[in-house]
Amino acid sequence: MHTQVGIIGAGPAGLLLSHLLHRHGIESVVLETRGRDQIESTIRAGVLEQNTTDLLIEAGVGERMKAEGAVHHGFELAFEGKRRRIDLTALTGHSITVYAQHEVLKDLVAARIAANGSVFFNVSNTSISGIETDAPSIRFTHGGVEHTLHCDFVIGCDGSQGVSRASIPSARRRDYECVFPFGWFGILVEAPPTSDELIYARHERGFALVSTRSPSVQRMYFQCDPKDSTENWSDDRIWSELHARVDSVDGATVTEGRIFQKNIVGMRSYISSTMQHGRLYLAGDAAHIVPPTGAKGLNLAVSDIRILAKALQAFYSEDRTDLLDAYTDTALKRIWRAEHFSYWMTRLMHRLDGVSAFEQRLQVAELEHVTTSHAAALAMAENYVGTSAV
Ligand code: FAD
Ligand code: DHB
Repeated sequence: MHTQVGIIGAGPAGLLLSHLLHRHGIESVVLETRGRDQIESTIRAGVLEQNTTDLLIEAGVGERMKAEGAVHHGFELAFEGKRRRIDLTALTGHSITVYAQHEVLKDLVAARIAANGSVFFNVSNTSISGIETDAPSIRFTHGGVEHTLHCDFVIGCDGSQGVSRASIPSARRRDYECVFPFGWFGILVEAPPTSDELIYARHERGFALVSTRSPSVQRMYFQCDPKDSTENWSDDRIWSELHARVDSVDGATVTEGRIFQKNIVGMRSYISSTMQHGRLYLAGDAAHIVPPTGAKGLNLAVSDIRILAKALQAFYSEDRTDLLDAYTDTALKRIWRAEHFSYWMTRLMHRLDGVSAFEQRLQVAELEHVTTSHAAALAMAENYVGTSAV
């Protein structure tokens, strides 16, 4: 089997890359360990930057998002029993769109299938060889048969647990990591929205986030022990925790409903600052992880792909290698900005065990500043909507 670009992973990064390459006449094959149903139903991120929505629309995969996604012009910060609004559009001229990651995936899979694109689901035993040559290959098993995919480039879009990153010799890799001692408990709820906009809440008991998915389905999160189990949390216990953390003194309260999904995710910051080696390039979660507080994970994956698609296009149409050579340096500027913002917002909003009462009050002082100073609000808003990047 031969293709121009072999892509490992059918997450947002891999599928978007395959789609963009197709639009420029470049052939690719996508290999994915999970089934189509599984990738189209796993609940993950929900906030899309305008950079992301603009790219999806321009690439012809934004129709359903435009119809079903909700454009938000601001969000609320809840602390000390009150809520203060960050007016994203007034501050930056930009907005964000709430549209679930698995809906983006459905749109991308549909587009690849409509174009007769080659996507292999349920593959196993993926391994990469020859990345230091001009003819790398990917071995994999599909339907019980072993295959070798020969290609010009291998793009590792296989997330944080994939095989691609480990294919770069460890002596050539430089990693940076920070693991947070807390996680997020996430729920999906059948209920009307609590508020018109997202609410990020800082409370002594811990962080909470009220987000949305549709007029009848809401997404909420609260800070928890990453080793805790969803079994320990009855619906009553979840609601009393969310009320304690989010309700305001003026009576504004979280709207309850039937909880139909519960999950816990750990939180960490991670960067592999080596994003390319020979003919292997890493994109998205395969190269970096952010804690979800700043809603950057999916958007960063898309921004890596924007850069990489352009570089591959320059290679195939003009025989240029300069953009490919510069890929890591170009992508890392935005990645480090997003890493800093996500880390800053995480430490601003979460209960930090082991820090002094003084430092806990500094969080409140900073929230007062961010919600009263135009300059401080603008800095937060620029980062949140994604316009402060290079
Ligand atoms: P992924 O979406 O991880 O896609 C990688 C794909 O590669 C997967 O489908 C995987 O099955 C496949 N794969 C792995 N190994 C192999 C292999 N060896 N061979 C072939 N295929 C392979 N971000 C936010 O901003 N907000 C959130 O609330 C949020 N929640 C999250 C919850 C969870 C549980 C996780 C894991 C992430 C969450 N994120 C969130 C982050 C965001 O979803 C990711 O940043 C985004 O999915 C990155 O896209 P990606 O394409 O790089 O990687
Ligand atoms: C959602 C997730 C986030 O990480 C975030 O910061 C905001 C919203 C969500 O899943 O809706």
